[in-house]
Amino acid sequence: MQNRKRVAIIGAGPSGMAQLRAFESAARSGAEIPELVCFEKQADWGGQWNFTWRTGLDEHGEPVHTSMYRNLWSNGPKEALEFADYTFDEHFGRPVSSYPPRAALWDYIAGRLEHSNVRRFIRFSTVVRWVEPDAESGTFRVTSEHLPTGESTIAEFDHVVVASGHFSYPNVPDYPGIETFPGYISHAHDFRGAEAFEGRDVLVIGASYSAEDIGSQAYKMGAKSVTASYRSNPMGYDWPEGFEERPAVVRFDGDTVHFVDGTSKRVDAVVMCTGYQHKYPFLPGELALGGPNTVYPEGLYRGVIWQDMPNLAYVGAQDQWFTFNMFDTQAWYVRDLILGRAELPDAEERAASMAEWRERFLAIRDAEEEIRFQGDYVKDLLELTDYPQFDVDAVVEIFLAWVKDKAKDIMGYRDRCYRSVMTGTLAVQHHTPWVEELDDSLERYLADPRELAAAA
Ligand SMILES: Cc1cc2nc3c(=O)[nH]c(=O)nc-3n(C[C@H](O)[C@H](O)[C@H](O)COP(=O)(O)OP(=O)(O)OC[C@H]3O[C@@H](n4cnc5c(N)ncnc54)[C@H](O)[C@@H]3O)c2cc1C
Ligand SMILES: NC(=O)c1ccc[n+]([C@@H]2O[C@H](COP(=O)([O-])OP(=O)(O)OC[C@H]3O[C@@H](n4cnc5c(N)ncnc54)[C@H](OP(=O)(O)O)[C@@H]3O)[C@@H](O)[C@H]2O)c1
Repeated sequence: MQNRKRVAIIGAGPSGMAQLRAFESAARSGAEIPELVCFEKQADWGGQWNFTWRTGLDEHGEPVHTSMYRNLWSNGPKEALEFADYTFDEHFGRPVSSYPPRAALWDYIAGRLEHSNVRRFIRFSTVVRWVEPDAESGTFRVTSEHLPTGESTIAEFDHVVVASGHFSYPNVPDYPGIETFPGYISHAHDFRGAEAFEGRDVLVIGASYSAEDIGSQAYKMGAKSVTASYRSNPMGYDWPEGFEERPAVVRFDGDTVHFVDGTSKRVDAVVMCTGYQHKYPFLPGELALGGPNTVYPEGLYRGVIWQDMPNLAYVGAQDQWFTFNMFDTQAWYVRDLILGRAELPDAEERAASMAEWRERFLAIRDAEEEIRFQGDYVKDLLELTDYPQFDVDAVVEIFLAWVKDKAKDIMGYRDRCYRSVMTGTLAVQHHTPWVEELDDSLERYLADPRELAAAA
């Protein structure tokens, strides 16, 4: 291919890795692919799944990316996120449980690419500082910095794929009196483990996944009490003794927190589980996605193409029920547009499509409708490319069953087993109930229960 196109991929988390896999899969079937450069500011791939103990700034003075913590186990069944072109059976060689810990999922994501040659496209420890569009040529000048040496590079690209994630810049509310709260305060982004909460009264602010899971971690690690404060709606689970929900926080007074219903409680530690902001400090404002965390962010045709500059794409920008296999369907579509295998409709047609989806999005009333919406979105993309077809409706059913499992038993739902949509394999029960399992290592996850019993 003469004058090969140049594509910059920003981020080598699951979305950037999906983009690399998409191109690699086309190359394997004989296609000529563009020149790829994937910039990754961390020293390894995996994005959020690449755990670090660090908080705040990393060893180079860069904001730490990951929000993950020790003892983080998948919060949805793995059968809902499984890749269609690389199954859990293929990776582990035997059935495993439906809710793996972080290390096992990191191993799975990395495993798909380890046998390919895409690692050579990634510039690790290299942060993208700025992306400058050139209106005349329609290209981008990308300025990056190799963090260990401080060396800056400017290079021109025909396409930019933003895969930098959107759960790293915390949304942190302020409350009167919080500045003199004498205990521990952090945001979920900086939470690394609940061991220090043993015997403590803990407040989590928020009513979504982080509040649910960090509150549960505190409970698991022996907190004296856990209080979860909701702004809009309570999570409403049947919490175990010592775990309760209260409405919004209005102020702090020393170590006492006051809620909007007039009640108050003394607490030792506060974790703000108040979500994240879309933030793309390397993009000029007119190219940066904004707004709340939703399943249909504004400005993206088919959820990926920046309407006002279609050679800029975002992968993984949605709020996520579907994750890894959705990123794949997005990445395959973006690849096919770049390769010229798929045709991009004109601006008017794109706007009409976006308006139609937006209208459907605005009509969503509950979690079930949101799951079905995202399922339809994945199906729409799946039809456009050669990504292996899979039964998206069956995945939707897994999500709906999972919502019910949680409502039935919030501390026990991770002990349930699901059947793979890709292979038909039924998951096996983990050797230890989740609420009692305090070791999240890959070795322990894969340990033979008979050997564990013999060693006990
Ligand atoms: C606490 C937490 C728990 C989660 N648990 C689950 C779960 O159980 N199951 C599930 O399916 N999903 C879970 N998720 C959702 C998670 O967002 C996805 O699984 C997935 O990690 C998203 O992939 P991504 O590549 O889009 O973003 P990320 O994983 O965030 O990766 C983005 C990458 O871009 C890099 N980057 C950012 N800025 C730059 C820059 N300027 N230059 C170069 N590189 C850059 C980062 O270093 C990072 O490697 C969780 C998310 C969080 C925050
Ligand atoms: N594997 C796991 O177990 C695990 C654990 C944690 C997180 N995650 C993942 O991490 C991602 C982010 O989840 P998240 O829970 O951090 O964010 P989120 O889903 O965006 O939820 C943010 C929460 O913060 C609340 N909030 C926002 N601003 C507030 C304010 N000013 N005052 C009070 N409450 C406020 C919101 O309340 P409203 O409803 O009022 O808006 C909402 O409950 C998700 O993809 C999730 O799956 C997974």
